Amino acid sequence: MKPMKIKDGVTKLGAVHFERRLFDSLIPLPAGTSYNAYLVEGSEKIALIDTVDPMKLDVLMEQLNDVPKIDYVVSNHSEQDHSGSIPFVLEKYPEAKVICTPKAKTFLMDLLHIPEDKIDTVEDDERISLGDKTLRFIHAPWVHWPETMFTYLEEDNIIFTCDFLGSHLATSELFAEDECLVYNSAKRYYAEIMMPFRNFIEKNIDKIKSLKIDYIAPSHGPVYNKPQFIFDAYNSWVYDEPKNIVVIPYVTMHGSVKAMVDYLTAVLSQKGVVVKPFDLTVTDLGELAMSLVDAATIVVGTPTVLAGAHPQVIYATYLANALKPKTKFLSIVGSYSWGGKTIDQLSSMITNLKVEVIPPVFIKGLPKEEDYKLLDELVDNIVKKHKEANIK
Ligand code: FEO
Repeated sequence: MKPMKIKDGVTKLGAVHFERRLFDSLIPLPAGTSYNAYLVEGSEKIALIDTVDPMKLDVLMEQLNDVPKIDYVVSNHSEQDHSGSIPFVLEKYPEAKVICTPKAKTFLMDLLHIPEDKIDTVEDDERISLGDKTLRFIHAPWVHWPETMFTYLEEDNIIFTCDFLGSHLATSELFAEDECLVYNSAKRYYAEIMMPFRNFIEKNIDKIKSLKIDYIAPSHGPVYNKPQFIFDAYNSWVYDEPKNIVVIPYVTMHGSVKAMVDYLTAVLSQKGVVVKPFDLTVTDLGELAMSLVDAATIVVGTPTVLAGAHPQVIYATYLANALKPKTKFLSIVGSYSWGGKTIDQLSSMITNLKVEVIPPVFIKGLPKEEDYKLLDELVDNIVKKHKEANIK
């Protein structure tokens, strides 16, 4: 992509990675992603804010062909998709200094072997003048690493937030024009990356509330020229009560669990509950994570394998626990042939979730008439709990 002007002296650089499909060897990227860098040219000094994943170094270096000097390379976040090209930028501009938080300094030295004398740290609320433009640094720890910060360009009311408020969305558009598409990608991003840090999000949004912000420029996805759009979305994801939704991640081996899940889905939906079943053998884990943002209840469905839950159910349960959604209730349904410790095993894996556990339904073989009655009781229990918690 070619550089794109946001305002006079402020240009979006970086690379759009349309074809990338996996991040951190973990996170699916159905819509690709981008690594945005920003060039801020003041009357006296020039700053580059963040860089790109080294996989796209050539794109950034070509964009810098006509940039005669860089005084500062601001590293808002040390993860390598943004910082990984800093050593190459320093090679091209040996006079440049890296600007980051004190915590980030050690990360950059450890992860990228950037020499200590190349790094200047900034305190919270410290400013650097570029002449007629001023960069103000706002420490924003734990969105999503301990060293993260935002950079606010005071004269232009632009805040550069790196990962925070971003989206894994490859698009040729500079601004978030297609709000439906961006909303979905930003929600997926929130669910996978930011949701475990909900408490810190609240603190960091409070910190920037008083700033006049015309543009939010994250380092993934398009720039927000209507900042309220993404603030409203985060308000809903972070603060709203969960909705009348039951998410059912499950695996079936010979059809018993599938029969239970199908029955639950049919009866719950008859009672007005939105049900989202996910067969984990074919599920995009990002879709599952997104569904957890709003779900009031999770029902895990598993067969018994080697005396425990199916490994894919264990994986999904581990992820759900790590993502810490605001889900209020959890239950388990499953089937066995001759025994096992599945319930104990799964129950021990959800210590991060502040959920009330609704009694599981664990049956022998294919569900029989009396088993469907137990599932009816589970449905009644879920509906009652949602009503009592005023979940709509
Ligand atoms: Fe986009 Fe935490 O890196």
